[in-house]
Amino acid sequence: MQLSVQIGKLELKNPVIAASGTFGYGEEFAESFYEIAKLGAVVTKGISLEPRAGNEMPRVIETAAGMINAIGLANVGLHAFVSEKLPFLVKQRAVVIANILGSTVEEYAKVAEGLAPHEGVAAIELNISCPNVSCGGIAFGIDPKAAAGVTGAVRKAFPRTLIVKLSPQAASIPEMARAVESAGADAISLINTIPAMAIDAKARRPVLANVTGGLSGPAVKPIALRMVHEAACAVKIPVVGIGGIMTAEDAIEFMLAGATAVQVGTANFVAPMAAVEIVGGIEKWCRDEKVARVSDLVGALELP
Ligand SMILES: Cc1cc2nc3c(=O)[nH]c(=O)nc-3n(C[C@H](O)[C@H](O)[C@H](O)COP(=O)(O)O)c2cc1C
Repeated sequence: MQLSVQIGKLELKNPVIAASGTFGYGEEFAESFYEIAKLGAVVTKGISLEPRAGNEMPRVIETAAGMINAIGLANVGLHAFVSEKLPFLVKQRAVVIANILGSTVEEYAKVAEGLAPHEGVAAIELNISCPNVSCGGIAFGIDPKAAAGVTGAVRKAFPRTLIVKLSPQAASIPEMARAVESAGADAISLINTIPAMAIDAKARRPVLANVTGGLSGPAVKPIALRMVHEAACAVKIPVVGIGGIMTAEDAIEFMLAGATAVQVGTANFVAPMAAVEIVGGIEKWCRDEKVARVSDLVGALELP
């Protein structure tokens, strides 16, 4: 049975990827839990040109069916990523996808330029969809023209695989998907978190210092499935499905909806072994269902 899938120029040994912001730079997982090279790939925490401290605490809260975070893109910055974090990931033989962010098109392009000489960065995932920062990010994620502009600039700066991560806040997912495809994206990933809020009734205050944050986990899965299906119908490039994937069966549902690969996010906080267990679960599911190649599942949904 064949588990490998193709995302742009990148062949992944299996379709399971650790999602940005939920796997750090891989260190904790590699040191305490499992060989991270067992995953199809690892997406890093979003990287900006300069280091960012992120938002005030508290910035994470558990909800009935997921979590809300307002980390605010805290990260070590481009320079420290390349000199301190990337060598570790390369040594672990992980396929590294660098998630990048910026406040302006120029800043995005500079981060991509800074990563381009480092072959250990197999792909870039362009985050135009973070809801928790006051400028940049989401501004690009809701306007097809702006999304195409930043995609084109990063495309020029980075020769290897370019994945653009879409926001669930866009008015039309098909329109956004087509815009970034025509600007040179090799693949699309979706969804990022959905703006949400938690309130402490007794204190009569919002729980998060940032007031609002991004909802992730099982609560967002049905929305993500619909959006992945819409995106996959709109473009020819591969789609990477994200949102509430906790089990192998969740992952298979996303593949049937049209995803070539999937990312596992919040599940990493709930059960640190989740992503690698999902790899095993997909393999077992395919054997039981007599599916020869996992890629045969992509978009195999039978519509009424
Ligand atoms: C704590 C936390 C931090 C995140 N940081 C980033 C980030 O830096 N860049 C990004 O593109 N997405 C980030 N995300 C979004 C996830 O990568 C993913 O798109 C989202 O959580 C939905 O998937 P899930 O339901 O499996 O968690 C973050 C999510 C969480 C929970």
